[in-house]
Amino acid sequence: MQLEGKAALITGAGSGIGKAAARLLAREGAAIGVLDLEAEETQATVAEIERAGGKALPLPADVSQPEPMQQAIRKLGETWGRIDVVFANAGINGVWAPLEELTPEEWDRTLDTNLKGTFLTVKYALPYLKRQGGSVIVTASVNGTRIFSNTGATAYSCSKAGQVAFTKMVALELARHHIRVNVICPGGIETNIGENTEQRDLEKVRIPVEYPRGEQTLTGGKPGRADDVAQLVLFLASDASRHITGTEIWIDAAESLLRG
Ligand code: NAI
Repeated sequence: MQLEGKAALITGAGSGIGKAAARLLAREGAAIGVLDLEAEETQATVAEIERAGGKALPLPADVSQPEPMQQAIRKLGETWGRIDVVFANAGINGVWAPLEELTPEEWDRTLDTNLKGTFLTVKYALPYLKRQGGSVIVTASVNGTRIFSNTGATAYSCSKAGQVAFTKMVALELARHHIRVNVICPGGIETNIGENTEQRDLEKVRIPVEYPRGEQTLTGGKPGRADDVAQLVLFLASDASRHITGTEIWIDAAESLLRG
């Protein structure tokens, strides 16, 4: 067990990548703070971990709201006396639309969830991480880091680019506390993210690109699995990656090299 005796906070742990990571890190011995906006999904992940013999605490909260986040993280820290791993993963696609049609409110919602949410998650976990050192993993995307051709995904891509800058800034600031900070950039992964996506009038701005002989990636263009991403999260959470900080890792079967 690679995380025996450790405690991990995982945001967006009610679904998709966060849920897969919660399951795997729990199996490796970590007690998991399961944080998600959806109280029912939060409870379902906790129940699944407990049924498998693991330890988990439900933390229903909105990552974009300072007060509830501070309270939820304090509850986690007080329950297990420590936080060693933070997976800042909650995110939405939000609205993808031509720039003239995208409203300021839609822009704010995407940036507040994806970028401000990352800031609040790490900020409020910091007092606990500093006690013994630890590992922070942020979920960005291929969008905004290697792919810039999903025209209309401007707010989303900016939030993801911002997460990479955030990672590098705080990796250096926190190195003296033996806290590592890395960012993962998944390509298409099969999850429920479609439920938090609205695509409007994209045909007006989309640049058509076709691969008539197929998409020659590792998966032939098929999406990856949340469990594949969870394995990377485990590596970055564990001591196996003790010399790695401030870096992005793409996990996309070469999708972003093809599309760019
Ligand atoms: P998902 O929709 O299956 O899971 C995301 C979870 O985050 C949901 O349970 C949702 O309730 C929660 N969430 C959303 N807003 C929240 C908020 N304000 N506060 C707390 N929880 C909130 O999606 P998925 O795919 O697992 O997404 C996880 C991360 O992976 C996101 O940051 C997403 O941008 C990123 N990603 C996903 C890709 C994909 O193809 N699925 C590709 C690249 C990045």
